[in-house]
Parts: sequence; structure tokens; C-alpha cells
Amino acid sequence: MRVGVLTGGGDCPGLNAVIRAIVRKGVQEYGYEFTGFRDGWHGPLEGDTVPLDIPAVRGILPRGGTILGSSRTNPLKAENGVRRVKDNLAKYEVDALVAIGGEDTLGVATALSDEYGVPCVGVPKTIDNDLAATDYTFGFDTAVNIATEAIDRLHTTAESHMRVLVVEVMGRHAGWIALHSGLAGGANAILIPEQRFDLDQVCAWVESRFKIRYAPIVVVAEGAMPKDGDMVLKDQTLDSFGHVRLSGVGEWLAKEIERRTGKEARTTVLGHVQRGGTPSAFDRWLATRFGLHAIDAVRDQDWGKMVALRGTEIVRVPLRDATTQLKTVDPRLYTEAGVFFG
Ligand code: F6P
Repeated sequence: MRVGVLTGGGDCPGLNAVIRAIVRKGVQEYGYEFTGFRDGWHGPLEGDTVPLDIPAVRGILPRGGTILGSSRTNPLKAENGVRRVKDNLAKYEVDALVAIGGEDTLGVATALSDEYGVPCVGVPKTIDNDLAATDYTFGFDTAVNIATEAIDRLHTTAESHMRVLVVEVMGRHAGWIALHSGLAGGANAILIPEQRFDLDQVCAWVESRFKIRYAPIVVVAEGAMPKDGDMVLKDQTLDSFGHVRLSGVGEWLAKEIERRTGKEARTTVLGHVQRGGTPSAFDRWLATRFGLHAIDAVRDQDWGKMVALRGTEIVRVPLRDATTQLKTVDPRLYTEAGVFFG
């Protein structure tokens, strides 16, 4: 048995831990051979491979990024994409594919598996934590820790200058990173895409913070939107899955707060810092367990499935369940956090 492995979409801490676990268990326990596909779906589409064996995965557990590279290539949009993927799998004698990715990468795996009979198993990853069917994705915990550390640091400089500091975090159309890091970092307002925000209310929170001689920290998710108005974007370009590049709301918000309250405001956009560097212990643990269970699914020829975390158990769910609906923040969780606003 030869198993192909690819990592697609935005990278995140823990990808290497999954690859390592898949290869270690696959070789040691099942005697499998592996082919790494470079740069997500670009690899099987173009026949771009990299050797993948136990020596290749030594020492990669704490390393961020992915040794296989990643991209947002969509083979379903490429000319004869499915045919080319199938031909390359045959050419490299790959019997099954493990696709490690988020909504887009797993969406392609779902189509290839369910509609075109390509034997695929999925592993969910994304710092956004927005995949349904799993309680958590790896990468999220690391991103939250990075954002929390940044908020902690911003508190002290905000206090010294008595300024408003707006922190824009990633998460696409889900507010998980904003909510978790905002709560952990003691933010005075947390704005998420799931709940449109009222600028007057945000300014009132800011002012009430100054009244007690503290400087406010406002955490805003890149996908958050004002009540009256549209999403604020600085770039309108789309990727090959049709997603627009988010970011810009932080700058806009600081300017609006400054204009309305007369208080000096600055913005920090955390951006890709949230995706880089070494994974947290939780993400290494989760990624490793996902890898071990994914190769078991391959052994069982349980195609069209994805490994998922439910409580502390790793289970298998249909790949389709992960991608049909975004997992967004429950309004009750947001309401719960409101006691700390202002
Ligand atoms: O999906 C992960 C993510 O980091 C989002 O939070 C963010 O909107 C997007 O990817 C950024 O994409 P890129 O790396 O293409 O700039």
C-alpha cells in the first residue's frame, strides 16, 4: 500500500505533527510506503512529489509550517483537473490519499471521494476553528495563545499612553480566535463576525474604560462588520476558492473611535504571526492523535471520512459533514463574555 499525503490551504502550527504521526504509524505498524505531494492539491494535479519516510519526518514535531508546502490550488477548477489528479495517483502508484486541510482542501477531498471514487481520508486543520463536526481543529490553540500574549503586551503600552489599542485577529467568518483570545487577554470589547457591532456602543465601552483611568483594548475579528455598513476590506482580490482577502476593519475602527471619542487610537494587525512558529502542546497532542487515527482509517479503507475530536475522543465522521456548514460562535458564548465589556 502506498499512501499520498498533502497539506492544503493556509498553513497552521501542527501540520508537521500530523505528517509525522501518519508516517510513523503507517510504516512501523502497517508496513505502508508514502509519497508526499507538494503544495496542497497542486501536488497531485501537477505530479509534484517529495519522498516521505521515517527519516524525512524526524525532528519535525515542534516545527511550524509544513514540510510538504501548501497552496490554495483548486483542482476542481483546473482544466481536466480530476483526470490529471487520477492520472498522477496512478503514475506514482498511490492507492490512497490523506488530505490535511480546512474547508476548501477538505471540500475537494469530499468531491474526489464521493463523486469520483478517489480513496481519501481527511484531517481537519485551521487556526480559524470553523470546521463543523470537530470540537477543535489544531492550530487554533496556538493562534489563540499568540493573540493572547499580544493582548497582554498591548495592555501595558496602552496604559502608559492612555490610548485605545485595537487588535485585529484572523478567523475569517468565525469569531473563535477573537472570542477566546479576547477573554483570555481581558479585552474591553470583542467584536466578532457573528454579531454585527454598534459603533456607538463600542465608543461607549471605550469611554467608560477611560473614566476609571484604564486604557481600552478592543479585539476585532477580521470578518467583523458594523451594524450600519459593509465588511471593511483593503483588498478585493479572490483566491481560487472564491474567498476575498479579509483585513482592514481594525484600521477603520481605530479611526472611527478616534473621530468619535477624541481619544488617540492605534491598531495592531496580528496577521500571519498567528499562524507561524512552534505549535502549542495541545496542538501537538491533537495533531498527533489525528494523524494516528487517520492512518487507521486508511487501513480500514474507510474512505470519505474525516477524523474529528469529540470531547476527548477521536472519531470518524463523513468528510461531507465537515464542509457543508461553517462552525460559528454560538450567540450564548458571546453574551456570556459581555460582562467584561466596557
Ligand atoms: O484560514 C486561515 C486564515 O489564516 C484566515 O484566518 C485568514 O483570513 C486567511 O487564512 C489568510 O489567508 P492568506 O494566508 O492567504 O493570506
